[in-house]
Amino acid sequence: MSQYSSAQTVSPPPSLPVTVITGASDGIGAALANQLAGRHALVLVARRGDRLQQLADRLKQLGSPVVPIVADVTDRSQVEDMVDTALAQFSRLDVLVNNVGRGITRLPSQLTDTDIDDMMRVNVKSALYGTQAVLPHFQLVGRGHVINVSSMLGRIPSVVPRAAYSAAKHFLNSLTINFRDEVQAEHPGIQFSLVSPGVVHTDFGLNALHGGVDSRVLPLAQSADEVAAIIAQVIDDRRPDVYSRQGMAARVAAHYEALGRDP
Ligand SMILES: NC(=O)c1ccc[n+]([C@@H]2O[C@H](COP(=O)([O-])OP(=O)(O)OC[C@H]3O[C@@H](n4cnc5c(N)ncnc54)[C@H](OP(=O)(O)O)[C@@H]3O)[C@@H](O)[C@H]2O)c1
Repeated sequence: MSQYSSAQTVSPPPSLPVTVITGASDGIGAALANQLAGRHALVLVARRGDRLQQLADRLKQLGSPVVPIVADVTDRSQVEDMVDTALAQFSRLDVLVNNVGRGITRLPSQLTDTDIDDMMRVNVKSALYGTQAVLPHFQLVGRGHVINVSSMLGRIPSVVPRAAYSAAKHFLNSLTINFRDEVQAEHPGIQFSLVSPGVVHTDFGLNALHGGVDSRVLPLAQSADEVAAIIAQVIDDRRPDVYSRQGMAARVAAHYEALGRDP
């Protein structure tokens, strides 16, 4: 049996799109929920119910029907229950933002099986479970949008102690692209997008497995609001692959071009 709780039934106007955001109690997910308030019915998911409830209460006052769900998205049954609850409450589901993720601070030579398993569970399996759970509904209605929050480190493994996190985000990127290829062959109205931020001003660094530097003290950290605005834009324009800042795509291209140069 899964352990989750949800608020009482709410009935949004049928015209309001329903968006599920995982990792909505803090950081980028909470910022995104704030930005969608009034325009989307929201299903907010995380493990800390008190924070979710506070956010839900505030967003309801801004005109958004909100259902907070306490769930651990590394548990497949809890993710399936999350989707069932969203559909039961709103009778529609338009967007899933797989935003949960976690870093790690450990050199590649020191990585354990447990480290790798944790990175895969939080950064890859959570998104896989969510995507597989919403897919039957999206296929039934012929439309839907999965947005996976990746990272610049999912494109360039440039921070050595984040090796296992980079690898997990590379995995997530491949999975997203191949989901798109598979599903759009029959259902072109279902989109899969990747959003890749650089460093963001959140608790991400402090929450990393084995601790680490606070992301907020790193140079050029973007605000969570800025990244949330990019994700909100992707919900509207359905672009498949987006970075959180101008110039990042060019940096990735330049990185691989330099690697491929003849000595
Ligand atoms: N911040 C950065 O520098 C940065 C850079 C590039 C990419 N990203 C990516 O951006 C996304 C969001 O990161 P963030 O900076 O907002 O991180 P954050 O501040 O650490 O927030 C993480 C959120 O995920 C929730 N969460 C964590 N594990 C969970 C689980 N097992 N089940 C359910 N909820 C869980 C946390 O809430 P609870 O503790 O209440 O569950 C929290 O709401 C991640 O995918 C991350 O990899 C971040």
